[in-house]
Amino acid sequence: MAPQDVTPEGQYLRRRAIVRGLGLGGIGLAAGLGCAPPSGPPDAPRTMPAMPAPRSRRHRVARALTPARFAHHYNNFYEFGPDKEAVARRAARMPLRPWTLEVGGLVDRPGVHDIDALLRRMPLEERVYRFRCVEAWSMVVPWTGFPLSALLREVGVRAGAHYVRFETFGDAAIGPGIAEQSHYRWPYVEALRLDEATHDLTLLATGIYGRALPPQHGAPLRLVVPWKYGFKSIKSLVRIDLVGEKPTTFWHGLYPREYGFLANVDPATPHPRWSQARERSIATGAWRPTRAFNGYGEEVAALYR
Ligand code: MTE
Repeated sequence: MAPQDVTPEGQYLRRRAIVRGLGLGGIGLAAGLGCAPPSGPPDAPRTMPAMPAPRSRRHRVARALTPARFAHHYNNFYEFGPDKEAVARRAARMPLRPWTLEVGGLVDRPGVHDIDALLRRMPLEERVYRFRCVEAWSMVVPWTGFPLSALLREVGVRAGAHYVRFETFGDAAIGPGIAEQSHYRWPYVEALRLDEATHDLTLLATGIYGRALPPQHGAPLRLVVPWKYGFKSIKSLVRIDLVGEKPTTFWHGLYPREYGFLANVDPATPHPRWSQARERSIATGAWRPTRAFNGYGEEVAALYR
């Protein structure tokens, strides 16, 4: 993500050409951050109780699901360091209970919510979404969660709130990457406009592939905004605030020319260091054209007119 962290696309393509030349094209080869598909470790991390939730008929994708073993072992979660293939291992002992989510700012009913009590009363369902990282990799995964709008209705949004600000834990005892990368401004913060936050597609996810989120995906609760680049989908939430002014967010605050605040998936606007016209499956390594709003334009384009 940081300028030094992402392998430029040209360099990646050259590496793949070399791999093909060696006859290793189908095998995941570690080619630096942001790139080659991961190799295939086993499917099931620990702490993943089954989570039956009804499948949404409206939220489906006409593309094969990314096999879980790829999604579970290729993660951006900088609190556990910048190496995508090491995150699952480094996060494995993350303490997930007790866990609370504080909701505050311009709301009628501010408060601290125990995660299990919250999940018991929210309308959980399974939705299959496309997911597109700003680094040009993509996957298709089934999330279990509830619309953020359900929580916002419960707490009551007050007049004057124009943005929703989200915050991850900032404890270096939990995330060793926090102390190792002290040049970043922790904690990881993201934000949405209120109209984006209340859009039906905007999900607070607590599960993936029908099971509780494993730590590396942002257990026990993370945001998923499928029409935006993945860095907006902040993990392991501890705090949500309704605010009047646009918050400073993690990557946008560090490198505003590289990571926009809106960060809507847009094939026509290149990242300063690589094209966004195409995206690469983390499972197969195959490239396909990027779709505007990651294919969710019919639902969300009106927000930006
Ligand atoms: N949330 C936190 N707290 N820390 C992070 O480093 N990385 C973001 C996002 N949420 C990140 C985060 C980025 S860049 C991406 S692409 C997605 O998480 C990756 O989600 P996944 O690992 O579940 O695929």
